[in-house]
Amino acid sequence: MLNFSFQNPTTIHFGDQQIKKVTKEIPSTAKVLVIYGGGSIKSNGVYEQVKDALNNHTWFEFSGIEPNPTYDTLMKAQDIIKKENINYLLAVGGGSVVDGAKFIAAAALYEGTDPWDILLKQQPVKQALPLGAILTLPATGSESNGNSVVTRDGDKLAFSSPKVRPVFAVLDPSVTLSLSDRQISNGVVDAFVHIMEQYLNYSVNGKVQDRFSEGLLLTLIEEGPKALAEGSKSDLDIRANIMWSATMALNGLIGAGVPQDWSTHMIGHELTGAYGIDHARTLSIVLPSVMKVCRENKREKLLQYAERVWNITEGEEETRIDQAIKLTEQFFTSMQVPTRLSHVELDESHIEGLISKLEQHGMTALGEHGDVNLEISRKILMQAL
Ligand code: NZQ
Ligand code: ZN
Repeated sequence: MLNFSFQNPTTIHFGDQQIKKVTKEIPSTAKVLVIYGGGSIKSNGVYEQVKDALNNHTWFEFSGIEPNPTYDTLMKAQDIIKKENINYLLAVGGGSVVDGAKFIAAAALYEGTDPWDILLKQQPVKQALPLGAILTLPATGSESNGNSVVTRDGDKLAFSSPKVRPVFAVLDPSVTLSLSDRQISNGVVDAFVHIMEQYLNYSVNGKVQDRFSEGLLLTLIEEGPKALAEGSKSDLDIRANIMWSATMALNGLIGAGVPQDWSTHMIGHELTGAYGIDHARTLSIVLPSVMKVCRENKREKLLQYAERVWNITEGEEETRIDQAIKLTEQFFTSMQVPTRLSHVELDESHIEGLISKLEQHGMTALGEHGDVNLEISRKILMQAL
């Protein structure tokens, strides 16, 4: 196992009616900015619950954060923060809203000239406004990690800082009942790929991390399709298991002490930046290709994955690996997401543009060994046609 230091200070309030906990989590003297997206929280009752919880607080609101939040939108929040002396942020929404709030929190106290440098030049975040989150879409893990992804002019970049990790997060599975099938699928697939990025690497005999990861993968494989099936769509136990899996997938626990890949995500970000494809749908296209192109580097773990996640114990090694990749693709298909570039109307003519973007963003040494150069990324994209 690799050395690691692990801390996750985000307090989780999980379950029915937990939005009420916000009242005590946010100091009563705080001046709060409630940040949300396009309005789903107004139609599913979450906004009302937030209003009730903040009944005795001084609060303002900033809405309109779009999926794949943009720098231009997020910077608009700075006016109200300055004008009203806001000193606490409450993000209410999916990963885009939580990520957006993190950037707003860091930008508010940024001492340099342009907060975009936090992403472009990876300038360290020295201070940020405190932030709480009410999660409405289980997917990204953003509610209890320090990561944020922001887009500006087609460039989708990420930063990470413990300073923007939410102080608390409310996870009430019942608020996910208003999600569309597409967003449920996206969430399950995103969480699945987060686990794979931290699991499907070279082995360092991290048994705890491996078995946690395999348990989470199995849970998503079992529960994901049920959340789309007519008879079990509204089952709160299913929603709860998916929600907790998605948080655990990217709260730092399973990735501590093991190598991490993230090439699927970095290539995927270029597909979203250039063509606006939903984040999870880029991952379901790229991951099977990464498994195929990088199979030698990942051989031992691919065999372990085949055995422990898909019960494939017989046959030649190559056949077992092929089967595991095929079953992964079938799982994605059962979750109604694309697994090929052609499924999203892209072909070979789009690949060079994506490679140029990877180069421009410095994504030239990806993967757990840093050996996924532009040549290999090209192979991965060609394999995904
Ligand atoms: O904006 P509203 O009206 O709220 O609608 C949203 C949005 O249209 C809707 N939605 C959310 N909760 C709902 C709901 N609709 C009905 N009922 C509810 N309960 O869903 C749509 C998509 O929301 P979004 O927040 O964009 O989705 P997601 O949570 O998948 O977040 C995606 C973003 O997170 C980034 C992605 O790159 C992308 O920008 N990621 C963040 C990560 C992190 N912070 O660690 C890691 C991930 O790998 C990922 O990169
Ligand atoms: Zn992701």
